[in-house]
Amino acid sequence: MAELSVNHLLGIKYLKKEDIELIFETADHFKEVINRPIKKVPSLRDITIANLFFENSTRTKLSFELAEKRLSADVINFSAASSSVKKGETLIDTVNNILAMKVDMVVMRHPNPGASVFLSQHVDASIINAGDGAHEHPTQALLDSYSIREKLGEVKGKKVLIVGDILHSRVALSNIFALKLQGAEVKVCGPNTLMPKYIESLGVEVEHNLIKGLQWCDVANMLRVQNERMEISYFPSTREYVQQFGLNKKILDSLKKEIVIMHPGPINRGVEITSDIADSKNAIILDQVQNGVAVRMAVIYLLASKIKQE
Ligand code: CP
Repeated sequence: MAELSVNHLLGIKYLKKEDIELIFETADHFKEVINRPIKKVPSLRDITIANLFFENSTRTKLSFELAEKRLSADVINFSAASSSVKKGETLIDTVNNILAMKVDMVVMRHPNPGASVFLSQHVDASIINAGDGAHEHPTQALLDSYSIREKLGEVKGKKVLIVGDILHSRVALSNIFALKLQGAEVKVCGPNTLMPKYIESLGVEVEHNLIKGLQWCDVANMLRVQNERMEISYFPSTREYVQQFGLNKKILDSLKKEIVIMHPGPINRGVEITSDIADSKNAIILDQVQNGVAVRMAVIYLLASKIKQE
């Protein structure tokens, strides 16, 4: 049986193209399963998974939990806000106490970049990064590419514009790695102050003019401005940001071509996109959410297959 080249999913930068292809083929099968009247398979009845969320989440947390339950795994949920982390317990002590309860796999969201890599080096469990600060969000990038593949047939050769707060976005970085690995062309668009200095070394072009970027692309991935990661202002006002980088129906109609609109959520309606765009036929935002469950089932299933071999 084909298997992943990694024992953990810490970031897209650790994956090979073949890993992504295997995840997508496996997700195709699970997508068919979750559309059946009985949406469950018994594959992981012998696996226990802990979901550790040290940072807020709606989509990722619920999607992982549903994916685990659809695979019949036993699931425990941990939220930092109501835990002994508040009493000063370290990350490794917290996780080792959870692992002492015979947990096989840990899904973790953490505000610190590198937290999942650190954990994988210090505890004996398979780790899935559900977002680590402004670093990586690998399952989001996988479900984004899977959704492009579903909508446009393949990712290779497609022109993808990532718009918004590139500097603070783990979604942008993981998407750049995933799209480039699959042979897509990528441009990023946003204010200069929200562009990392190293961005062009990742093989992407910077476009500061939203209309030009939209005229070029097949897919526009509209990212949220991550105010929670900003201690200072990176642009004069939200109004000014919207004028330069917000997508609305008038702009979309002016392109005179069809493009696919994506957004990882949560959306700030009226900032990065208007409601008529978010709810339009061009937007595949809820398809992304639906595909997230199948893609996460695939990732969990493939990593669990490696645990069972040990
Ligand atoms: N896309 C995403 O990561 O959303 P949540 O923060 O709600 O999980």
